[in-house]
Amino acid sequence: MSQSANPTYAVVGATGAVGREMLDVLCAQGVGAESIRAFASPRSAGRRLEYGNAEITVEALEPGVLEGIDIALFSAGSAISKQFARPTAARGTVVIDNSSAFRMDADVPLIVPEINGDELTANESRRLIANPNCSTIITLMAVTPIHRLLGVARMVVSTYQAVSGAGAAAMEELRRQAREVLDGGEPTCRVFDQPCAFNVFSHNTAIGEDGYNVEETKMVKETHKIWGDGSVRITATCIRVPVFRAHCASINLTLREPVGDLDAVREAIAAFPGVRLVDDRAANRFPTPLEASGRDEVLVGRLRLDPSQIDGKGRCFGLNLFAAGDQLRKGAALNAVQIANVLLAHAGV
Ligand SMILES: NC(=O)c1ccc[n+]([C@@H]2O[C@H](COP(=O)([O-])OP(=O)(O)OC[C@H]3O[C@@H](n4cnc5c(N)ncnc54)[C@H](OP(=O)(O)O)[C@@H]3O)[C@@H](O)[C@H]2O)c1
Repeated sequence: MSQSANPTYAVVGATGAVGREMLDVLCAQGVGAESIRAFASPRSAGRRLEYGNAEITVEALEPGVLEGIDIALFSAGSAISKQFARPTAARGTVVIDNSSAFRMDADVPLIVPEINGDELTANESRRLIANPNCSTIITLMAVTPIHRLLGVARMVVSTYQAVSGAGAAAMEELRRQAREVLDGGEPTCRVFDQPCAFNVFSHNTAIGEDGYNVEETKMVKETHKIWGDGSVRITATCIRVPVFRAHCASINLTLREPVGDLDAVREAIAAFPGVRLVDDRAANRFPTPLEASGRDEVLVGRLRLDPSQIDGKGRCFGLNLFAAGDQLRKGAALNAVQIANVLLAHAGV
């Protein structure tokens, strides 16, 4: 990586839901427009994107255009990542990839900086780093403090996923369908094969022979890789809900150690970087996707002992909780920029 004081960035997929958020995160942390190049498909070449008080002109992604860039943040889908990421990394650019193309590759670190960021500094030579699946990041930000305190033996997670997880076109689909239905018409489906407005449906990824969809399988495999512990038993149900942004997760845990004191769990959650405890029973205030939208922190609450997991000695091994996090930020763009920041800090820039 460049030792220059001003590293250069490329955002690949800059016109998309995640790419736009990456530009916002970089702008907010003071990276100047002159240090950033924005790439998308040839359809978008020449388009101008707002960047603080400046504008950045979108360039078409073609072989060779990323030459000389210090850090390339990819969010243009797996096919583009498979074509461009490894050749770009081989020429010396650090590539942080948001797609699922390389997440399970043994030579590619899968990183949530607050959880396993130390793997970045232990593997300095790695130039291709994968950003985990958005639901996995949000769930693990909520559960990792509990895992560190009491050890998770089993996790049952049910997600409530915003439409923006399927990209900018899906947000437009929810907007359009809501208007169509409120005007008394039928919703037209372009992105999802069933209505997303006023509806809830099983995640729109392919279903395997075992009946689990790809999103559910990713949550299991990626958790094992991030925690470096394949022994944790995990099962997931992933659902789309008519929410613009921020995913939620309802989580039931079986712990290795009994829960002595719920306040100690609350303290561990509240102390974890990037997490905010929202657990006000008296006011019935808990995490919501609206409150999580646009925020960096993952909101965690609805913390309850699970009475179905009390043993014969009265010890409780089960916990329930609920999390909400903006999957375009911590679930994608912010996490990727945080990875870049860890690498830059380590390179002494
Ligand atoms: N949305 C999320 O919450 C989320 C979270 C985690 C990870 N991800 C992953 O991030 C990636 C992008 O997701 P998204 O939600 O931002 O999708 P999106 O809104 O549909 O954006 C896709 C982006 O890819 C660009 N693109 C498409 N074809 C291209 C090509 N041939 N060459 C260069 N760029 C091309 C698009 O450019 P044009 O505008 O020119 O078509 C656009 O900028 C996906 O791999 C997704 O799985 C998404």
